[in-house]
Amino acid sequence: MNVVVKAGTEVPDAFLNDVLSGLSRPQKAIPPHWLYDQTGSELFEQITQLPEYYVTRVEVALLEKTVAALVSDIGRGATVVEYGAGAAVKVSLLLDALEKPSAYVAIDISYGHLLEAVRGIATDYPDLSVSPVEGDFLAGAVAAELPDGGPRVGFFPGSTIGNLSDQQIHRFLTRAGSLLGHESWLLLGADLRKSSDILIPAYDDSADVTARFNKNLITRINRELSGTINIDQFAHRAIWRDDLSRIEMHLESLSDQEFSVAGQPYAMARGETIHTENSRKFTRTALQGLADRAGWRISKYVTDRQEYFALLLLTRS
Ligand SMILES: C[S@@+](CC[C@H](N)C(=O)[O-])C[C@H]1O[C@@H](n2cnc3c(N)ncnc32)[C@H](O)[C@@H]1O
Repeated sequence: MNVVVKAGTEVPDAFLNDVLSGLSRPQKAIPPHWLYDQTGSELFEQITQLPEYYVTRVEVALLEKTVAALVSDIGRGATVVEYGAGAAVKVSLLLDALEKPSAYVAIDISYGHLLEAVRGIATDYPDLSVSPVEGDFLAGAVAAELPDGGPRVGFFPGSTIGNLSDQQIHRFLTRAGSLLGHESWLLLGADLRKSSDILIPAYDDSADVTARFNKNLITRINRELSGTINIDQFAHRAIWRDDLSRIEMHLESLSDQEFSVAGQPYAMARGETIHTENSRKFTRTALQGLADRAGWRISKYVTDRQEYFALLLLTRS
């Protein structure tokens, strides 16, 4: 494996700032990428195996069926840059479909988990230059050095794009465009609007794995930021907001309570929540608008038969 580039987020300062300011707002909210420490990443992997979590299953099947056709215009020797690589499971399908890819750069905020994942890729693809990069892909500092020559392909699966606001998506797409360069590609996985009867169980499963994933944020705050929050006094909530076309995850206070984080006192009333994640569900029109505004064009667009999930190949050219 190649260079290990460390960039972007300085934990715990960035985490501390986000938590202290997020708990001081009228609607308490903590940015979703803090859900992913080592335990959070492991719990997310369990979520991807749940019967209710259709997202991974449908995206992998769609990739298996369509990725060769999606990337058929991309030439030999590509550099693949994966954003929010996680367990780096899906990238093999992309690497296998490309003609002799030369390099793989995997960016994630959860570094220990990322390292384990890319070691597997380095073993499976001995001729590929593999570089894990630690950092927040929304922060300016993720500036991996990409090898010269060959096409560049961004890969952003898992509908991680759905965790971002319009403004963050604009920033993400613009920065990805600058990093990847003028004649580049971006293969994007995006979850589509569907019935709340399917969406709610996907984010509030019967085995409570998603509840543990959400509540792990409290454990992390207590461990890393000297928090005194009683985890048993919070419940996981997944709410479908049709008006905003998104699932919201919250941690709901089960009592009137007080706690501190890094010595700062906070109070929460029974029923008050901490908003921890959005998972937006897109329409093709919404995706088109977001791509257009950031200077990307949709070159290819495919969905599964039920139109649960879309893969988009964006291009700058
Ligand atoms: C929804 S999971 C998707 C994981 C994997 N790509 C998949 O398709 O299953 C989001 C991944 O992105 C990472 N992540 C989330 N926000 C991030 C950020 N702002 N910067 C870097 N990585 C981030 C998380 O650590 C996690 O691995």
